[in-house]
Amino acid sequence: MRETFYITTPIYYVNDVPHIGHAYTTIACDALARWHRMKGKKVYFLTGTDEHGEKVQKSAARKGMTPRELADQVVTNFQGLTPALSISNTAFIRTTEPRHYASVQELFRKSLGNGDIYLGEYEGWYCVPDEAYWTELQLEGGNCPTCGRAVEKRKEPSYFFRLSKYQDRLLSFYRENPRFIRPESRRNEVVAFVEGGLNDLSVSRTSLTWGIPVPEAPGHVIYVWYDALTNYLTGLGYPSKTEDLATFWPADLHMVGKDILRFHAVYWPAFLMSAGVAPPRGVFAHGWWTVEGQKMSKSLGNVVDPYEMVRKYGADAFRYFLLREVSFGLDGDFSEKELVRRANSELADKLGNLLNRTLGMLGKYFASVVPAPEAEEPADAVLSRCGRETAAAVDAAMEEVAFHKALSAVIEFVTKANEYVQSTEPWTLAKDPSKRERLGTVLYNALEAARIASLLMSPVTPAAAQRMWETLAPGAGTVEGALLGKNGAWGGLQAGITLPKACIVFPKIET
Ligand code: MSP
Repeated sequence: MRETFYITTPIYYVNDVPHIGHAYTTIACDALARWHRMKGKKVYFLTGTDEHGEKVQKSAARKGMTPRELADQVVTNFQGLTPALSISNTAFIRTTEPRHYASVQELFRKSLGNGDIYLGEYEGWYCVPDEAYWTELQLEGGNCPTCGRAVEKRKEPSYFFRLSKYQDRLLSFYRENPRFIRPESRRNEVVAFVEGGLNDLSVSRTSLTWGIPVPEAPGHVIYVWYDALTNYLTGLGYPSKTEDLATFWPADLHMVGKDILRFHAVYWPAFLMSAGVAPPRGVFAHGWWTVEGQKMSKSLGNVVDPYEMVRKYGADAFRYFLLREVSFGLDGDFSEKELVRRANSELADKLGNLLNRTLGMLGKYFASVVPAPEAEEPADAVLSRCGRETAAAVDAAMEEVAFHKALSAVIEFVTKANEYVQSTEPWTLAKDPSKRERLGTVLYNALEAARIASLLMSPVTPAAAQRMWETLAPGAGTVEGALLGKNGAWGGLQAGITLPKACIVFPKIET
């Protein structure tokens, strides 16, 4: 049976337009989805929108719309990210779909049935923008400890989830699954939080109407996080026993920002354990972007619009920068100047140039027909070994969700390939007819390095990789359909085929 891989993005609130933070999570998931497909796995990649809750209700009211009208309008901005950013998601889920109501209510009913959800009364400090209650002790300077904004005192009848009961089970789950929470530093934070003791969690609201009703409890709406987290099951067809559910659950990876790790690593597995559903296999929390050294905010007017970035630089360069610039998991700083610098010096000057200059020489010396490689010299062996080692290094990096390592390995390999061309001097070999075989071998190897690089880059720069791929492997299908095992071995470039005289995949960005 084929191995499977189920990856999810958080579902995005429809009270706002997409910004770099949303684009980042989605692009990271897309790169992983593409990589696992290339390894021959059957991949399910889910993204979508979180459409209930106070934030959306309030936002809609301010605009004089119903929450549904607002959701229907804003969702298109998130769905539009798929083509704009070259995202290969399998499905898109909206929490306002009827199938999701059925799913959330079924999961909720399971825990009501076994007493893990009970009726009580909630009193606490509520942060409206974060949709989170805080205890007196948790407040910082009287304000919300995560966003620093003012909180309000609230009291309401509420259903509670018996989270306290799951403290030990969660801790042993973390122990038995040391890779469940990544990176390691985040895992330690979560473990310390759970060790500190867990309070039962309020999972319904009466103060709110925009949400999924608690089964058989008029006036109660299910807490937006309980609703939202369940999307990962709904996406596969839960509660129906669908083939997708059997094939892909438990999820391999929920990719999230560091701010929403606790919901995914503490509440979500506990909800599932209570309902008798297996918890996911992994949660990875990435860092946050500042913009030119400052926190991104509407009031500062520095919110990065992913659509604008794509218009200016293309999806490939934008994707590349986001995944190359920071150690995945840490915070980073976004700057267009840095984006342009990296795109020009790494993508255009190194990767693009390797292909284009070699095609130029192939045209000049071999009428663009790929020669068969002849006797191997030490420099050739070094290059092909580097190609093999790079593929292995990229694989290891992608397994540990370290995009920056994967990309720097590919760029290093491309740099070596350019140095190979520089040191073998095809232009000198071309002057000596007795060196014709050697010249052919050198050009073959340089092109082969470009072919391997295009394959390894394809999860991050899919459009350029496709152009390189169709140039160097005509008739081999799309790079999206390529398999690392079958297409990634050194020597896959076919001799005897005619290639174009030039191919500019990464035009220099003018500033
Ligand atoms: N609706 C919830 C998620 C529910 S998942 C069951 C939510 N939505 S969100 O739209 O506010 O945020 C989605 C993601 O964007 C989060 O993973 C968050 O970390 C990420 N980011 C928001 N701003 C960000 C940056 N400035 N930088 C990087 N990512 C950031 O939370």
